[in-house]
Amino acid sequence: MDHARERVGRLAIYPGTFDPLTNGHVSLIRRGCQIFDNVVVAVAADTPKTPLFSLDERVRMAEDVFAGHPSITVEPFTGLLVDYVERRGANVILRGLRAVSDFEYEFQLALMNRKLKRHIQTVFLMTDYQWLYISSTIIKAAASLGGDIKGLVPENIYRKLREKYGYPYPLGDDIDLGLGGPGGHGGKGGAGGPGGLAGVGSAGSAFGAGLGNGGFLPRSMGAGLSAEGDDALRNGCLDPDDDGYGGGTPPMAPTF
Ligand code: COA
Repeated sequence: MDHARERVGRLAIYPGTFDPLTNGHVSLIRRGCQIFDNVVVAVAADTPKTPLFSLDERVRMAEDVFAGHPSITVEPFTGLLVDYVERRGANVILRGLRAVSDFEYEFQLALMNRKLKRHIQTVFLMTDYQWLYISSTIIKAAASLGGDIKGLVPENIYRKLREKYGYPYPLGDDIDLGLGGPGGHGGKGGAGGPGGLAGVGSAGSAFGAGLGNGGFLPRSMGAGLSAEGDDALRNGCLDPDDDGYGGGTPPMAPTF
């Protein structure tokens, strides 16, 4: 595996099953990049879950999302997490906490990992509130019955989920074919500039579209705000000021 592109500096390992990666994970990784120089998204082969996607698929989907972001590496790992972290020359495990319900499991995991290797520290970041209620399982549950989970996962994963469950794309949905965008990454909002009309997002990678289409924003607003997707990258990492909504406009509260 080529680790040469990682800059020397603080390295955090962000492990998970990522079946599949969600925008909650993406948000966590983006924020991890504000603290660490490099973040490795470590996709577990050994997980108590029975994944829908193969290890290879989970890795490839995440790789597509972070293509063009040299500070973020995606790779699979087998065996004990702490052994992998040590092999990787790191001593920080990054994890997200969504709600109190996560705490007990995360506490157990962190303490067991600490028991196994005392020098490895687990660092927790709170998940942004707009992703509090999502998990890979609930997204799969909705997608499996044809529910539209657009905006909750990056665009490439949205397409994969629909394919996996045999649902065609909704009529009139503007699908990112990955053809546009200079340099092959970052979403350009097409006709829809910031605050402008809804545009066809010709994002070069799923990352711009996935973040730029923005969670709970109505599709028209999401497309307009995604115009800055290409600018979400600074210094080889994700723009710390980009909250995934194209900047400027605060995220809307989830509507149920
Ligand atoms: N926003 C939204 N959802 C989030 C999130 C965020 N920021 N962070 C986590 N989640 C969700 C995930 O989607 C996932 O949902 P799911 O349970 O429906 O699949 C859930 O929270 C937690 O998943 P994830 O963060 O992917 O971690 P995990 O619990 O699947 O991963 C490993 C566990 C891989 C870290 C653990 O099994 C492991 O270390 N395995 C290696 C073997 C090992 O060392 N075992 C001993 C451990 S002591």
